[in-house]
Amino acid sequence: MRSSLHVLYLSLANLLITLSITLPSPVQTAGTVLVRRSDDGMWHPERYGGGAPKVNNPPSPGPALAASTIHPIPSPTLLEATGLIPFSAPLETTHPIPSSLPVEPKEPLRTIKEPEPHESPLISADKFNKAMTAANFPVPSSEQHVAFVASTKKAKITSALEAAMYLAHLLWESHGLQEVVERACVNSACPGSYISDLDVKGKRYFGRGYIQLTWAKNYLEASKGIYEDDRLLQHPEMVSENSTVSWETAAWYWGAKVHDAAASGNFGRTTAEINGPLECRGGWSGAEAARSRFRLFTTIAPIFGAPGPFLEAGCY
Ligand SMILES: *[C@@H]1O[C@H](CO)[C@@H](O)[C@H](O)[C@H]1NC(C)=O
Repeated sequence: MRSSLHVLYLSLANLLITLSITLPSPVQTAGTVLVRRSDDGMWHPERYGGGAPKVNNPPSPGPALAASTIHPIPSPTLLEATGLIPFSAPLETTHPIPSSLPVEPKEPLRTIKEPEPHESPLISADKFNKAMTAANFPVPSSEQHVAFVASTKKAKITSALEAAMYLAHLLWESHGLQEVVERACVNSACPGSYISDLDVKGKRYFGRGYIQLTWAKNYLEASKGIYEDDRLLQHPEMVSENSTVSWETAAWYWGAKVHDAAASGNFGRTTAEINGPLECRGGWSGAEAARSRFRLFTTIAPIFGAPGPFLEAGCY
């Protein structure tokens, strides 16, 4: 009887040792185990565990985890299914997230946007393209069409006739929306031209942008009109280097200096506002440049659907 109890006792002790050895490493629960000490050869109870359960190495994902892309941190349920952890065991929160498991991408926030009220541009892309090619210039990009339509608004233009006048001058000034620096000054910066007391040291105020803004006075006036500061006087190069500014200065000049003259319907008056001293009535180029502008206008206006007659007066 005593002997069989002893055997049972030893078997139980062995079982506990076996259990303590085979317990999966991620889970260490507190308890007591019998350990045979080498000094006296006797069995002694020893405590083990007692701290927070530790998961030193993240369990390698089993098939269920590997297939899953939506669980950056293995859930207790999954771990329980693998037999690694009892459901009630808390997960240590400092457990490193295995980098091999992809993080679920966040869904972008959806903003509910009212549909834009349909608004057709003053000049369609089709008409714009046709006008450009009829004037023997390259087919414009859709960005150029969008920029043109936007600039007509800033230029206070509301009719196809005035839009045709505007585009005729832009094409003449920029050689078909291809040049935003005055041709004669591209390489030299025209050091002897457009000099005035307003000039910022080292800056040149030759023609820039789609309507070829010139002179420090005009750069300053445009800057105040568009931005309420003097940035274009300080940095005139912005007008050619930034295409938004190239368009904005053209629109500003038209709205401030040409729009009222355009209302007369006489194309020559718009030319007089843009380059009158040089091209109208005794200007150095005679009327040739001014007549070329008018020819561009009469090419564009019918394509834009502007009603005639197309009046030439006001310049020569
Ligand atoms: C171009 O000018 C616009 C308008 O002034 C400005 O908002 C934009 O930041 C500028 N772009 C660059 C690249 O400087």
